Amino acid sequence: MTHGSSGVAVLDLEPAASDFLTEAIEGLSSTPPTLPSKFFYDERGSDLFQQICELPEYYITRTESEILRKHGAEMAASIGEKAELVGFGTGAGIKTRMLLQELENPIAYVPVDISKQRLIESAEALQTAMPALEVLPVCADYMQPLRLPTPSRKPDHVAVYFPGSTIGNLEPHLAENFLARVCRLCGNSGGLIIGVDLQKPVELLEAAYNDRVGVTAAFNLNILERANRELGADFNLSCWQHRAIYNSGAGRIEMHLIANGHQHVHLGGRTFRFAHGEMIVTEYSYKHTQEGFAALAKRAGFKLSRVWTDPEQLFAVFHFVVAD
Ligand code: AVI
Repeated sequence: MTHGSSGVAVLDLEPAASDFLTEAIEGLSSTPPTLPSKFFYDERGSDLFQQICELPEYYITRTESEILRKHGAEMAASIGEKAELVGFGTGAGIKTRMLLQELENPIAYVPVDISKQRLIESAEALQTAMPALEVLPVCADYMQPLRLPTPSRKPDHVAVYFPGSTIGNLEPHLAENFLARVCRLCGNSGGLIIGVDLQKPVELLEAAYNDRVGVTAAFNLNILERANRELGADFNLSCWQHRAIYNSGAGRIEMHLIANGHQHVHLGGRTFRFAHGEMIVTEYSYKHTQEGFAALAKRAGFKLSRVWTDPEQLFAVFHFVVAD
C-alpha cells in the first residue's frame, strides 16, 4: 500500500522496470520493430498526453467530454443506482467526476491506472470533491488480469468505465479478449461504459496525430528517452522522427518513429540495427464503426444497452450490459 498526502491508500501493483526491459527487447526484435505504447506513460509522457488532450487538432477528449456533459444523466440512469464504478485509465478524472456526480448513490469508485503519480493526484482530488465516496485506487496494468479491492459497502452491481478510446490502442482480437475479461469482472448484473473513436476522414485523423506544435512528436519520442533513462539504452533522440499515418485498410492510425540515418542501439546487452528510413511502431489507434464495435463487444459477451454520439459522429460512448 502507498499513501498519498491526503491519506488515500493506493493498492500498488505497478509493473516492475524488468517488464519494460523484457517487452522492449521482445518488441525491438520483432518485424516490424515495436515498442509497446503502454510505456508512453511515465511522468513526462502523462504530462504530454494531458497536453495532447487539449490540442485543437485532438478532437477526442473535448468531444467525449461534450457527450458526457449532454448525456451524463442518461448514462447514469442507464447504469442504475448503488453501482461500484471501476475506472480504467481514467486519467485526470474530469469525465469520471462528471459521471460519478450523476450516479445515484454510488457505493465506491475504484480507479485503476498504470501511472502512479497521475492516479494518486486524481484520486486525492476526487476524494476531496466527494468526501462521502469510498475511493479505492489501484496502480496496475489493467490489461492484465486483476483482483480488485472490496468496498466496505456491498454494491448492487459493478460498472466498468473505460473512457478516452484507449480500447482503440488494442488490435481487435486483443480488444475482444480484453472485453471478455472485463465482462467476467463485471459479473452477472454488471455493465461497461466505454468511449470509442469512430472512423472519419483521413485528414482529420492525421491532423489529430501530427499536431502543428509538435506535442504528439514529443510524446512519441519520449518513449526512447524513457528507454535511455530506465533501461540504459542509447537511442540518439535527434536521429529519430515522429510520423503518424492512417492505414485505411486496417482502420487505424499508426504511430512510427523513423530512423534518420543508420542507427545502432544498445539495450539490455543486445544491439539493434536500423537502416535509414526504417521504423519502430509505437502505437496503433483503431477507429471503429458503431456497428463494428457493437459486434466486437457482443463476441466478448456484452449486449448493447445504449449509445450516445456527438452531432458530427466523431466519437461514441456505449453502454453495454453483460449478456444472459
Ligand atoms: C490513449 N489513446 C487513446 C490515445 C489515442 O488517441 O490513441 C493515445 C495517443 N497517441 C497519440 N495521441 C494520443
